[in-house]
Amino acid sequence: MDTSMKNSSKCMLTLWAGLTVLLIRWNRICSVEPMTKTNHVPRAWNTDAPDRQMGSATREYQPDQLHCQNRPIDNVTNSPQSHAIRGSNIISNASIVLIVAYMRTGSTLLGEILREVPESFYIFEPLRTIESKFNRQNTGDKKNKSVEINTADNITRLLDKNSAVDQSIKSILTCHLESLEYDILTDRHHALFKDSMKDAVQCARGNINKGNKLKNLLLKTNGTSKAKLEEDIEHANNDIRLCLAKEKELCSNSFIIVIKTIRLRMRRVLQLIPHFPNMKVIHLLRDPRGMFQSWANTGFRADFSQIAKECHTLSTNIAISKSIIHQYPEKLKIIQYEELAEFPYATTKEIFDFVGLAFSEKIQKFLSNKTSSETHGSAYDTNRRNSTETASKWRKNISFADAQTIDAICVENNEVLGYLPVKTEQELRNMSLSLRIRQNVTQALIKSYEF
Ligand SMILES: *[C@@H]1O[C@H](CO)[C@@H](O)[C@H](O)[C@H]1NC(C)=O
Ligand SMILES: *[C@@H]1O[C@H](CO)[C@@H](O)[C@H](O)[C@H]1NC(C)=O
Ligand SMILES: *[C@@H]1O[C@H](CO)[C@@H](O)[C@H](O)[C@H]1NC(C)=O
Ligand SMILES: *[C@@H]1O[C@H](CO)[C@@H](O)[C@H](O)[C@H]1NC(C)=O
Ligand SMILES: *[C@@H]1O[C@H](CO)[C@@H](O)[C@H](O)[C@H]1NC(C)=O
Ligand SMILES: *[C@@H]1O[C@H](CO)[C@@H](O)[C@H](O)[C@H]1NC(C)=O
Ligand SMILES: *[C@@H]1O[C@H](CO)[C@@H](O)[C@H](O)[C@H]1NC(C)=O
Ligand SMILES: *[C@@H]1O[C@H](CO)[C@@H](O)[C@H](O)[C@H]1NC(C)=O
Ligand SMILES: *[C@@H]1O[C@H](CO)[C@@H](O)[C@H](O)[C@H]1NC(C)=O
Ligand SMILES: *[C@@H]1O[C@H](CO)[C@@H](O)[C@H](O)[C@H]1NC(C)=O
Repeated sequence: MDTSMKNSSKCMLTLWAGLTVLLIRWNRICSVEPMTKTNHVPRAWNTDAPDRQMGSATREYQPDQLHCQNRPIDNVTNSPQSHAIRGSNIISNASIVLIVAYMRTGSTLLGEILREVPESFYIFEPLRTIESKFNRQNTGDKKNKSVEINTADNITRLLDKNSAVDQSIKSILTCHLESLEYDILTDRHHALFKDSMKDAVQCARGNINKGNKLKNLLLKTNGTSKAKLEEDIEHANNDIRLCLAKEKELCSNSFIIVIKTIRLRMRRVLQLIPHFPNMKVIHLLRDPRGMFQSWANTGFRADFSQIAKECHTLSTNIAISKSIIHQYPEKLKIIQYEELAEFPYATTKEIFDFVGLAFSEKIQKFLSNKTSSETHGSAYDTNRRNSTETASKWRKNISFADAQTIDAICVENNEVLGYLPVKTEQELRNMSLSLRIRQNVTQALIKSYEF
């Protein structure tokens, strides 16, 4: 019997022997009827269905692969050394979805779709403030300086950026919210994307500000006033932990933890995988021409060196994705934004199959609202009247020269992803000509000699 078989039968045993309540909850989330394309796709989207006959799009669920929870997770080391491979290196058996994406690739939409899953615990861009903290403090010759990471647990950590990123992600994945940097907790985005976090942040903000001030003072203090400061900090931290208690419980009782981030490199993800056996990774990417034109529409006009840098990051991440696919089959899926926009139902179903969640009616309704919404939102909004149109809108106002330059810069990625170079301006503007070959990118990547 292989390990996964053993694991799943052990899980089943636990389930059957376990509480009825647990079983009911499990049933609600995990047990899913096999679903074919035709029985659930709403009428408005029937046009999508015939296109989506690729491979295993209609394959059946394998509910035994997920939701074998051992919660709550109790004994976890959050030290940066904890990723060293050891004999027994599992940090948590929780079900996890990690959305690894890039700016303007539809990751907010995908995150919101997964947030809609009942009892999912969703965290939006947790690394945003950590990144700016390091950017603020690591300037000039201090490129790799370690930075004081202020948290509401009693541990003071002086960490370099990679360790800070690693420790933040692990804190979320183990529901140790008190081990998150103060600034992560007060990031206004949590409240925007997660109602329950709003209360926690509101409750904790005062003490977090206090804690920040006290910790700064502490750095400059010695002697007797130090002990008093430490005591005050512990009081503030204690109050912060109380504010987080409810959120922490939601996290521990959730059936799936979802993180969406544009700030996590695939190299770090590869290091996380052995520690989180029930983690699934979605690598979300997009036609670079559309991505950079969309950056411009939000007011950020990247120069070609920034574009080259991003395409290089993408290319490294694709190469590591290939290695993950080799080493850990069924752990990583590459999703193209265009697929999500043009075939939202089929693609979301594919994603839900992959992570082992039921593609419920609730999710389908949410999707229909999001992808063919009546209101057309701002650049940061995810409400779109017609998502197919949105996906290719960039072709209307990118300059032909820019399109050609980006094609040249990102050529290596584009080949495996099926994005076609533009040869003439007419071709760029003529929307009835596709600039993408629909292919199974995973297969293309496996066959590719470039990666
Ligand atoms: C793409 O190919 C991979 C590897 O052969 C396969 O596992 C996957 O199911 C395919 N995806 C689709 C949508 O057919
Ligand atoms: C984890 O558990 C072990 C053994 O029960 C204990 O020695 C260790 O201190 C615990 N670690 C933490 C971080 O609680
Ligand atoms: C995860 O599951 C494995 C196998 O079921 C078990 O041996 C291990 O103790 C669990 N680890 C944690 C951290 O729950
Ligand atoms: C940054 O510093 C840490 C130790 O503080 C070291 O392990 C790491 O390799 C350094 N990274 C770079 C990019 O120099
Ligand atoms: C922090 O220290 C205080 C006492 O100094 C203790 O009561 C509290 O449990 C500690 N908290 C953690 C998370 O270790
Ligand atoms: C306290 O710290 C200051 C520098 O911040 C130092 O000059 C002074 O010697 C220290 N005093 C003691 C008693 O350690
Ligand atoms: C591109 O066109 C859209 C409307 O179609 C507009 O909102 C956007 O500002 C334009 N972007 C640039 C950079 O001109
Ligand atoms: C779509 O969203 C609107 C506004 O949020 C809501 O009133 C409506 O019920 C939603 N429709 C569906 C089908 O979910
Ligand atoms: C969305 O736009 C595409 C391309 O312009 C068009 O083919 C399609 O019919 C539109 N879909 C809806 C639902 O309006
Ligand atoms: C757009 O492309 C289609 C398909 O090749 C072609 O029939 C049509 O004439 C083109 N339209 C323009 C305006 O070039």
